[in-house]
Amino acid sequence: MTEISHLKSGLLADIAAAETADAIEALRVGALGKSGVVTGLLKTLGAMTPEERQSKGPEIHDLREAVTDAIASRKAALEGAALEARLAAEWIDMTLPAEAVPQGSIHPVSQVMDELAEIFADLGFAVATGPEIEDDWHNFSALNIPETHPARAMHDTFYFPDKDGEGRDMLLRTHTSPVQIRTMMTTPAPIRIIAPGRVYRSDSDATHTPMFHQIEGLVIDKAIHMGHLKWTLETFLKAFFERDDIVLRLRPSYFPFTEPSAEVDVGFTWEKGKRVIGGHGDDDNGGWMEVLGSGMVHPKVITACGLDPAEWQGFAFGCGIDRLAMLKYGMEDLRAFFDGDLRWLKHYGFSALDVPTLSGGVGA
Ligand code: DAH
Repeated sequence: MTEISHLKSGLLADIAAAETADAIEALRVGALGKSGVVTGLLKTLGAMTPEERQSKGPEIHDLREAVTDAIASRKAALEGAALEARLAAEWIDMTLPAEAVPQGSIHPVSQVMDELAEIFADLGFAVATGPEIEDDWHNFSALNIPETHPARAMHDTFYFPDKDGEGRDMLLRTHTSPVQIRTMMTTPAPIRIIAPGRVYRSDSDATHTPMFHQIEGLVIDKAIHMGHLKWTLETFLKAFFERDDIVLRLRPSYFPFTEPSAEVDVGFTWEKGKRVIGGHGDDDNGGWMEVLGSGMVHPKVITACGLDPAEWQGFAFGCGIDRLAMLKYGMEDLRAFFDGDLRWLKHYGFSALDVPTLSGGVGA
């Protein structure tokens, strides 16, 4: 065996045994690189006599070709094996059903809004919406709160510095009551709607945040009276708190957009130092908690919306959603609702699959 064929079989054996791309590369540099053995042999050709070159040349060229081919095919084989291994390790069966692993949770405010929509849908109420950037007329004037009315100051309104294109004062709505106006002006009576949504007031402490949530209710029909209002609220609160022993107390009150007006308290009972909704507020260990404002829609409001108050009457109510959530689910501090603290959301949040239904229990 010549020296060259010996070298050749050694190199080919090394290449065949190489297990990684790095090992192959090292062999390539050692054989075919600038100072590699095969390159070194090729360099000796120049100094040979023509006869020597004729006898050795083909063998050296054959060596270079054989080593080059062996490296290329070993490299391809290693790459193919690596791809096979990745494909085997990283496969996904696209025919399997998606894994339902909800990453976040439903905020208690969203959950309660869904519960309210469910409860009122069962009573035949549709959900209405209105803009959060309101004009002065819908938020105040049409609700019988004229410019000089002290209620305007009481609402701690966020006004925009500029009027809109039509010269109206613009503001962030201070309550959901303007949705009553917008609904009456666009929907023919009879009307039965609720309007949940964000409202804004320049006010901030443990029980007030500059943005909070309200739900408005409006019924417009013929021969509607306060008995309908009381029954509706009682039915709603029983469904919401999921107890039959809900007792309401209606206190005479004043709102510019209702006449007569009533504030609604719900009876609670002290249990282990905590207030639990339910029971008669005048009982020994009981008390009353205000939950709602309500009343019969003021004839001036009905007129402002283009309806005849001799023909159409109705009742309305308004209620803080955040407060309802706190009472039902036991949160203490309203500000935590809007901190975006994941630990709080994890504790008080609801599963995305936990859709409230009346049959399944709205608070389940
Ligand atoms: N808009 C009132 C508020 O924000 C709440 C309210 C009271 C709404 C009586 C009503 C109502 O519809 O009849 O304080």
